[in-house]
Amino acid sequence: MEEQMSELREIMKDSTSNTGTSKKGNHKTRIIAITSGKGGVGKTNIALNMSIAYAQLGKKVILIDGDLGMANVNVLLNVVPKYNLLQVINKQKTMDEIILDTEFGIKFIAGANGFSKIANLSVDELTYFAEQFSSLENADIIIIDTGAGINHNVLQFVAAADEVYVITTPEPTAITDAYGIIKIITTEIIDREINIHLLVNRVHSADEGKRISERIINIVGQFLNYKVNYVGFVYDDPVVQASVIRQKPFIIINPSSKPAICIKHIVGRIEKTDNSRSEGVSSFLKKFLGIKNSWFFIIFDI
Ligand SMILES: Nc1ncnc2c1ncn2[C@@H]1O[C@H](COP(=O)(O)OP(=O)(O)OP(=O)(O)O)[C@@H](O)[C@H]1O
Ligand SMILES: [Mg+2]
Repeated sequence: MEEQMSELREIMKDSTSNTGTSKKGNHKTRIIAITSGKGGVGKTNIALNMSIAYAQLGKKVILIDGDLGMANVNVLLNVVPKYNLLQVINKQKTMDEIILDTEFGIKFIAGANGFSKIANLSVDELTYFAEQFSSLENADIIIIDTGAGINHNVLQFVAAADEVYVITTPEPTAITDAYGIIKIITTEIIDREINIHLLVNRVHSADEGKRISERIINIVGQFLNYKVNYVGFVYDDPVVQASVIRQKPFIIINPSSKPAICIKHIVGRIEKTDNSRSEGVSSFLKKFLGIKNSWFFIIFDI
């Protein structure tokens, strides 16, 4: 046990030092979680198309399907992954073996039902997982598509990420649930400040997006005393549904469509925002694993 713990410490030290495989001296992978209160508001489409837009900027992007109940990024990509995160957790595969190259310039890691098992993993299994996850630190950005609503898996990803993008639509139920998830995030994750951004999907005008974001930002400010940042909107457009049916991202099949242009604007805006607080893969791991395994905090000296 003691030996395994020191192994874990070494892994975390290695990936924090950013020597080894990282190209730039101060290279830190930016880790973004995409979430929502209400389901079906467009998270997966936005995560996927944002990932591709990032890749088109010349970035190394990894998209992780963190929707562990109903993993479906692969459906939008029209791929049938042979392996997923579960095989890494079970020590049957390496991260390298499960990560998929796609024709769109992004890498993709398929999600797994039963990932919540992370709470019950042995030190040996955690060591392996941490080691494998650390191999992702060469990426410029990791985008995690989480499931909707308030469950522990979602919070685990959200709490570990550098930034969280909450997606809503103009529907009153989506707005209420967006407030609900922001409230949970801000009240549950109290050990540090987390950057929460708001994206309004399926709007019919820029004004509508602004109006809805202002409403949420005001309520969050008033009742939770928290500042949420509005990152932009995506138009409601039949091209999204058509791309889902064709199982090809809309940014690829229709790059000049309104939703594609919105996504490119949003990515451009995110790219311009201050990234200096990004803490990279090792920090993500500490937070991700530490939530359910408080003894991890001791191991990693956090
Ligand atoms: N901007 C848009 N314009 C038109 N339709 C949209 C738009 N965004 C999403 N949709 C529709 O909503 C559906 C659900 O989108 P998506 O699967 O991305 O949502 P989700 O939030 O990931 O859902 P879940 O909570 O089930 O994971 C899409 O299949 C599409 O039909
Ligand atoms: Mg989804």
